[in-house]
Amino acid sequence: MIVTVDGPVAAGKGTLSRRLAADLGFAHLDTGMIYRAVGCKVMWAGGDPADEARALQAAAKLSPADLAADGLREEAAGHAASKVAAIPSVRAALLDYQRRFAAQPPGGEPGAVLDGRDTGTVVCPGAEAKLFVTARPEVRARRRYLELQARGETISEAEVLADLVARDKRDSERAIAPLKPAADAHLLDTSDLDIDAAFRAARAFVAGRLGR
Ligand code: C5P
Repeated sequence: MIVTVDGPVAAGKGTLSRRLAADLGFAHLDTGMIYRAVGCKVMWAGGDPADEARALQAAAKLSPADLAADGLREEAAGHAASKVAAIPSVRAALLDYQRRFAAQPPGGEPGAVLDGRDTGTVVCPGAEAKLFVTARPEVRARRRYLELQARGETISEAEVLADLVARDKRDSERAIAPLKPAADAHLLDTSDLDIDAAFRAARAFVAGRLGR
């Protein structure tokens, strides 16, 4: 059984999908970390994440240890990720890993929750339950700002909003696997919901789809 949770930056999909996975006893894959790891490998080696040859090389050599590297959650890593993520050959190289995880979760769990941008449209179009999580840009910028501040990053809220709008634009306008809801996705706007209320709404939808 597969549950997909897609949406733009800081819509709440990470927290929601982790809670859903724990609640269902499913494995969880944050697909954004895969793109972050590839982008950072190139960036940390002094390269440009938009350079196809270097990004492809990093994608081909990706190991589980790369996904646990320090610094992958930083703003710069998100930008590097969205650059490598716009390269079709890189996306193709990373597709198999994601599909294998969904079909055969590594811990033998009976299902998987995947979160990202295209998990319901491209990675797992046949998923049993698909959520598309959104929130107003100002609300998402506020959440991201507080998160970055708590981690000690020095960045203004206006800069966070500008970065978020730029990344949403790149993710939504790219030619391959753009950010958009699957036709059969359930839309959940978390702008005016706290995390518990968002989780209850998501869980009710998923439980109905999985017959649990
Ligand atoms: O979700 P997160 O912010 O960690 O994702 C980082 C970047 O990776 C996104 O901005 C997007 O460009 C890319 N991504 C993607 N497809 C996914 C997950 C992430 O293109 N399934």
